[in-house]
Amino acid sequence: MVQEKILVIGACGQIGRELTAALRLKFGQQQVLASDIQAQGNLSADMYPYFRLDVTDAAALETLIAEEKITQIYHLAAMLSASGEKNPKKAWDLNMDSLLSVLELSVKYNVKKVFWPSSIAIFGPDSEKISTPQQGVTEPTTVYGISKAAGEYWCKYYFDKFGLDVRSIRYPGLISYTGAPGGGTTDYAVDIFHHAVEDKPFTCFLKEDTVLPMMYMEDAIRATLELMDAPKDKVLVRTAYNLAALSFSPQALTEEIVKLVPDFKVVYAPDFRQQIADSWPGSIDDSAARTDWGWEPAFNLEAMVKDMLLNLKELQEN
Ligand code: SER
Repeated sequence: MVQEKILVIGACGQIGRELTAALRLKFGQQQVLASDIQAQGNLSADMYPYFRLDVTDAAALETLIAEEKITQIYHLAAMLSASGEKNPKKAWDLNMDSLLSVLELSVKYNVKKVFWPSSIAIFGPDSEKISTPQQGVTEPTTVYGISKAAGEYWCKYYFDKFGLDVRSIRYPGLISYTGAPGGGTTDYAVDIFHHAVEDKPFTCFLKEDTVLPMMYMEDAIRATLELMDAPKDKVLVRTAYNLAALSFSPQALTEEIVKLVPDFKVVYAPDFRQQIADSWPGSIDDSAARTDWGWEPAFNLEAMVKDMLLNLKELQEN
């Protein structure tokens, strides 16, 4: 059996931290090379082996892939929806150029598998709001969403033209207690927990009844590993798979938190992110992922809230 050498790009981000740890459990610590733009100085020991990489530097990326004889790449570096609206050109350059470099170099160096995340942000105001189908109207309104929609077709193009085994998921909003998210529209659903455990009131930047598709990180990591483990001929969607677990509003999330933190208070002050949220679906039809590679979420809202609060309290105490 060929020993895998896996490169994670964006390993210090919200998904990257947990995916890197999960991949290291599966393939071995030394077989998974973490990379990110972050300097090595602030990293914990479990992040090594680590390589500081600016993914827009295609030459540096090429050297890394060639010298380390990389067999799989998980390319997670991106600028998210809210940050992207503040820096549209920078978001486009980072999100697109890096993907194109990864795809091109993967073909050149015979990388066996590539994972690249897409998002619910590919959908827009005219997409179906409830049980948004795998195929239908997309029409993204953010630069992030446009880059993800275009990126999906680039992935399919490299699969069709060059046989590159690139796989992708349209993640919903991801909720986790380790790495903090940065610059997303769904991030209120992470911040709210930090306020709850610190006994601070929370000001929510979305309206109380804004329902968005969400997922607990544990489910998202398992989905990613399951998709990457699936036999090649079972991966029928070569743009990106719809993936669903939960759908809730800030109000519903607050009610669930209040069951465990009775004095917790939330006020609402919607900002520019409301418009982004309003353009996205409320729930997702993920039947293709369920049929093709057996996807099934494990965490419901109650289980997720309980686990988040428990883990954040534990982190706070240590
Ligand atoms: N969580 C992302 C964002 O809010 C969506 O994929 O930008």
